[in-house]
Amino acid sequence: MEITNISEYEGIAKQKLPKMVFDYYASGAEDQWTLQENRNAFSRILFRPRILIDVSKIDMATTVLGFKISMPIMIAPTAMQKMAHPEGEYATARAASAAGTIMTLSSWATSSVEEVASTGPGIRFFQLYVYRDRNVVAQLVRRAERAGFKAIALTVDTPRLGRREADIKNRFTLPPFLTLKNFEGLDLGKMDEANDSGLASYVAGQIDRTLSWKDVKWLQTITKLPILVKGVLTAEDARLSIQAGAAGIIVSNHGARQLDYVPATIMALEEVVKAAQGRVPVFLDGGVRRGTDVFKALALGASGIFIGRPVLYSLAAEGEAGVRKVLQMLRDEFELTMALSGCRSLSEITRNHIVADWDRPQPLARL
Ligand code: FNR
Repeated sequence: MEITNISEYEGIAKQKLPKMVFDYYASGAEDQWTLQENRNAFSRILFRPRILIDVSKIDMATTVLGFKISMPIMIAPTAMQKMAHPEGEYATARAASAAGTIMTLSSWATSSVEEVASTGPGIRFFQLYVYRDRNVVAQLVRRAERAGFKAIALTVDTPRLGRREADIKNRFTLPPFLTLKNFEGLDLGKMDEANDSGLASYVAGQIDRTLSWKDVKWLQTITKLPILVKGVLTAEDARLSIQAGAAGIIVSNHGARQLDYVPATIMALEEVVKAAQGRVPVFLDGGVRRGTDVFKALALGASGIFIGRPVLYSLAAEGEAGVRKVLQMLRDEFELTMALSGCRSLSEITRNHIVADWDRPQPLARL
């Protein structure tokens, strides 16, 4: 049967993938309250559409850190994509490039920065986990820079791995035929089998828990690439990110995989946008599954959004064609949302085009 929205890929992926892999992709932390909330919160925002505006031409193009892209929909870094499909990150890179948008490559990719660069032209960001061994970090950043990556997304919400109980039950580990390719030559490309989550043990052993604001400054001494701080959920940290020299902020709760009972990212967005005061662009990821979600994020001040799991699920189902379809469906839905709301360009999307349940004291049903 024909797939008509991006969420449908989840069911297909669940059927196709080994349980250990699907659970790793799908899980959130602990009670998974935030995982549900990332989706639910979008449904507490309604539209205030404007009518009788000529919407025969809709322009979704935008610029991110000076790079022109076709739409404000980008790809978040997700680890180990070759568990989903043999072409893994190559397929994602090609699909993003074909859609004219940005792919963020995970530090824990199963393809290296050089391999992904060799798939052809495209605007790509590199997501960085900071290892205890700073030589490893410096080398990796240099390689990403040389391979033509345009920005570093510095993940700041993972001093330790969140407790993902499915991974503990499944004793999750990277399948033996795959490696974390960026670390292959550094003897850090394999994950040991553990009594619990192999990834949690890997993080505990290798990732730097001491990471702090001074390291954001340190990173700027080893690279000229702009730095996006990924994992901001408060106004306080938005201000500190800017002080530390960030070129942008990604409001993210890591797909609800780190601290459970943090708010949905769409709930945290506006506070961060206000604190940023337009000094740097603010992006969002977490639970974006519809064109209406993209519009709501932009109406609350985001400059763009990133999607995580839908890429993994569509990769598992159909490889590159699947990821292309996900990007196309989300694009089409977003275009339709703009038309039906009376917005012809991204700059016409305003806070007045939505009403959120925190805007007024009475329940939405009575507005
Ligand atoms: C992630 N995410 C993530 N983030 C990051 O900075 N580095 C990484 O390696 C990964 N790996 C990863 C694996 C898997 C399986 C998932 C689901 C997520 C988080 C990711 O970048 C993003 O924040 C969320 O996925 C966005 O939420 P949605 O779109 O998945 O709901």
